[in-house]
Amino acid sequence: MTEEPPKYKYMPEELWVTPDLKGVDPKKVVEYLLAALSDEILAFHQYMLTAYAVKGPYSEEISEIFMKIAEDELNDHFKKLAGRLQDYNVDIPDFRDFWSLSRCKQPKLPEDPYDIDAWLEAAIEAEECAIKFYREIYDYVRDRDVRTEEIIEHILSDEIEHYTLFKNLLAKSKS
Ligand SMILES: [Fe+2]
Ligand SMILES: [Fe+2]
Repeated sequence: MTEEPPKYKYMPEELWVTPDLKGVDPKKVVEYLLAALSDEILAFHQYMLTAYAVKGPYSEEISEIFMKIAEDELNDHFKKLAGRLQDYNVDIPDFRDFWSLSRCKQPKLPEDPYDIDAWLEAAIEAEECAIKFYREIYDYVRDRDVRTEEIIEHILSDEIEHYTLFKNLLAKSKS
């Protein structure tokens, strides 16, 4: 077995603090941003896994929807959070750290690829956790770190959209 490479040092000796911050602990904001960034990569992974795993009569339609949402998580949410972390002089974490940094982790995934409802339920669970967590971050940064507030508000609104979309698909499939 080849030896594991050492971890990239993504945390600086000292965080950069922009002059607009008012009354936040920069370390706490960075902790929140790193947890959210990790949640996004895990959500991307969960939805791509779902898109490829599902089987059965409606699986093509479902797979397309999951791929589209996975794209939001990576190309929009992940990038916005990574951009904000750059303002604090923080880089992307080592891949091995994503799980421990993540707040929401991943829900238990279904074993049956034909059980589309169960895959939708897992996605709803993931979005539920994301919404609660983004709400917590929003409450912390509101009026105190306006740039982060803006990003979190945008992502939160997207996660609510995802949540409703999955709920609707589940309701449709059950009717
Ligand atoms: Fe997201
Ligand atoms: Fe989402």
